[in-house]
Amino acid sequence: MLTIPDNLQISSFAQYKEWYQASVNAPESFWSAIAEQFEWKKKWNNVLSYDFKKPEVKWFEGGKLNITENCLDRYLKTQPNKTAIIWEPNNPDEETRHITYRQLYVKVSHFANVLKNNGIQKGDKVCLYMPMIPELAIAVLACARIGAVHSVVFAGFSSSALSSRINDAHCKMLITANEVYRGEKKVELKTICDEALENTPSIETVIVYRRTVEPTPMKIGRDKFWFDELQKVGKDCEAEIMDAEDELFILYTSGSTGQPKGMVHTCAGYMVGTTFSFQNVFQMQSDDIYWCTADIGWITGHSYIVYGPLAAGATTVMFEGVPSYPDYGRFWEICEKLKITHFYTAPTAIRALAKQPLSFVEKYDLSSLKVLGTVGEPINEEAWHWYNDYVGHGNCPIVDTWWQTETGAIMISPLAGITPTRPTFATQPLPGVQLALMDEKGKEIEKKPEKAEGRLAVKFPWPSMARTVYGNHERYKKVYFSQFEGKYFTGDGAYRDASGNYRITGRVDDVIIVSGHNLGTAPIENAINEHASVAESAVIGFPHEIKGNALCAYVTLHKDIQVSDQLIKEIRSLIGTTIGPIAKPDKVIFTPSLPKTRSGKIMRRILRKIASGQEDQLGDISTLLNPEAVEKIILAYKKHL
Ligand code: WTA
Repeated sequence: MLTIPDNLQISSFAQYKEWYQASVNAPESFWSAIAEQFEWKKKWNNVLSYDFKKPEVKWFEGGKLNITENCLDRYLKTQPNKTAIIWEPNNPDEETRHITYRQLYVKVSHFANVLKNNGIQKGDKVCLYMPMIPELAIAVLACARIGAVHSVVFAGFSSSALSSRINDAHCKMLITANEVYRGEKKVELKTICDEALENTPSIETVIVYRRTVEPTPMKIGRDKFWFDELQKVGKDCEAEIMDAEDELFILYTSGSTGQPKGMVHTCAGYMVGTTFSFQNVFQMQSDDIYWCTADIGWITGHSYIVYGPLAAGATTVMFEGVPSYPDYGRFWEICEKLKITHFYTAPTAIRALAKQPLSFVEKYDLSSLKVLGTVGEPINEEAWHWYNDYVGHGNCPIVDTWWQTETGAIMISPLAGITPTRPTFATQPLPGVQLALMDEKGKEIEKKPEKAEGRLAVKFPWPSMARTVYGNHERYKKVYFSQFEGKYFTGDGAYRDASGNYRITGRVDDVIIVSGHNLGTAPIENAINEHASVAESAVIGFPHEIKGNALCAYVTLHKDIQVSDQLIKEIRSLIGTTIGPIAKPDKVIFTPSLPKTRSGKIMRRILRKIASGQEDQLGDISTLLNPEAVEKIILAYKKHL
């Protein structure tokens, strides 16, 4: 039997191995011992029941709880005056806000009464379209407090993306802010909401937080100001008693088709999984100041800005702005100012910052930093080293955390200071995570002390897994449980080294078969990016009469570089020498930029359509960061033909 400390933390690599083994040998007693460390209204009757064929998964059935009692009430007793949230505004001249656990408890309860007073009950769906201000976290927790299901939509999405998400979940209420500053830009959120609300019949009430003093158009009877509503209600709000498997939230993620999937997470398993992983991956100590730069509109923000850190009693930083404003030193300035100990960001941000003069990072005292983290995409070797050398000064373990909206919590990652790290490797699965590498025939590649590469699947349930796609259980089954019988399919490929370390190689939907050869787009792109003139590239496949598929590379060049035949020759030969002639693209198209999602991922679906001559069937491009790029890419493509 394992002894689990209050903070749930593993403290050595030998212990990691021991816990991991225990979690595989007896998953139910392992997770039961972890779950004991939380506050329950009533203990569960059954730790786990599951059937991956249906698929159906239930954790801690019969248990009753409220996640906000675990994030707030329990810390009222032990650390009421500890800072729960530090908020750093977009504009450095504006004041930083510190909110203690006691203050957060009051604010959440108070706003929960606003929800109730406006007719929101347990099970109702509430959409949040808000900037990165503490009120977003407060609104999330207020929903959870009364058992309403929140659906946070990233406030960079367009009005049509917002309305389709509201309609998919039949949200009764929308919570937003009038405006927000991001860098130098001012975004009128309320105006975007008004556009979206033209065709969202389920919305009865809109609560508007006034972030700026500008006049805000309000629709009488529907729209209400946050502060006015607070005046009408009391500050005490009992937490709703929730069943372990009641829905906690819906969060949309994009699939390989255009229609987003509303992943549904439930109360108890999500709480246990996010808190356990947060404590162990980051190895938090009580005085640490933790900063995750993600937006709460994504799963990273849900799990590792709000729920995980607060349930662990940590101090979590929320940043309203962008890394480049007022200049590229902003992240490092905040690290120095708030004495950040744990810094968690995305490789795309690291690459952007590494491109800037070193003086931006060298100017600041980063000696408070203890642990660095990355998430969201594979981190390339160069970015890893820059992060390690110039941000961590070689003193901070880097936790490369692999997980997904669907998994709810980190699945593969070093435990900071405990697991030996290896650049570009997410390393080892967390306890409770039973991975399987699958070969092309759908057979598991057994673990031998050998290297292996395949598709990444999970062969046993874990507490924080999404339970369904909202309103479309068939899609959940088809996308995740039909590839490999009895296993959850991640959609990612992975490489495993002889010590059992995993490196995520990228989405396997990007594998292209050319003349019968399996080619991953990522290594080809890496080869192209090696060329000194290249800024970025994306490789896709298009139908070819003889080869089945042929390759097309879309390439953006560094500023002031001229396109020439010589350049194309050099790029093709670089691919030829690093991967082989088979990987040389048939087409190399130079474009000023690539179409990207808000989280920085290249939208290959669009590039594929263009290369297949289907530029009139691009589907919804409104969720792109740079929809205007598409027209230019089409032109560049046509010019090439
Ligand atoms: C990718 C983000 C490599 C992966 C938490 C996954 C990663 C998808 C890593 C999920 C990592 C995430 N290394 N790839 N450390 N972390 N990914 O749902 O392809 O926005 O399937 O969740 O991001 O993206 P999502």
